[in-house]
Amino acid sequence: MATAAAYDEIADWYEHEFLGATDTGHADPLGLGDLITELLGEGTGTCLEIGCGTGAHAARVRALGRTPVGVDLSAGMLGHARARLPVARADAERLPLRDGSLPAVLAVMTHTDMPGYLDGHWTTDSWTDQGLRDKVGATHRPLPELLHAFLDAGLTPERFAESGGATPLVLATRARSAAGTAAGTGTAPGRR
Ligand SMILES: C[S@@+](CC[C@H](N)C(=O)[O-])C[C@H]1O[C@@H](n2cnc3c(N)ncnc32)[C@H](O)[C@@H]1O
Repeated sequence: MATAAAYDEIADWYEHEFLGATDTGHADPLGLGDLITELLGEGTGTCLEIGCGTGAHAARVRALGRTPVGVDLSAGMLGHARARLPVARADAERLPLRDGSLPAVLAVMTHTDMPGYLDGHWTTDSWTDQGLRDKVGATHRPLPELLHAFLDAGLTPERFAESGGATPLVLATRARSAAGTAAGTGTAPGRR
């Protein structure tokens, strides 16, 4: 639960400063909204966001015709999300779902939070002391290892996209299982 505690501590900062939430939406400094629109695309039915945090992407998912629901470990982050989508406190490793029961799944800026904590790949080293990862830490994974994780999970990557101009900030992937679609984005190493 170390991850949950770290995010509990920064939940208000994440909501108001990092993502700059206002009554009308989020500032979206990383261009995540456009990547979600491009890769997830229009559809119907439930879209589960794993590690939904403060629910920053719920309105975007809804605008695509989908019904957002979210799970996250951090009660602090979910405290902000609750006003934006139905949520439950759950671990990505033990989702309260039947296999194959969802048409779409989204995970945004979460892969560096996944297991690996304290296994030698985890660090709070960062190029800035104004960002997220200098506060909660990150698990650094080589790109092949990240891409193999999709294959090992039985997902077939279909599309890739990035944002951030000459120095990309975000790598995003759409992958498909026999049961549906999953889309995810992650921040690029060095720009946290
Ligand atoms: C960087 S935030 C991203 C939040 C949101 N997806 C966004 O784009 O704003 C990462 C989130 O993943 C959650 N998280 C980390 N490990 C998790 C796990 N094992 N299961 C569920 N949520 C997890 C954290 O609590 C945090 O809210």
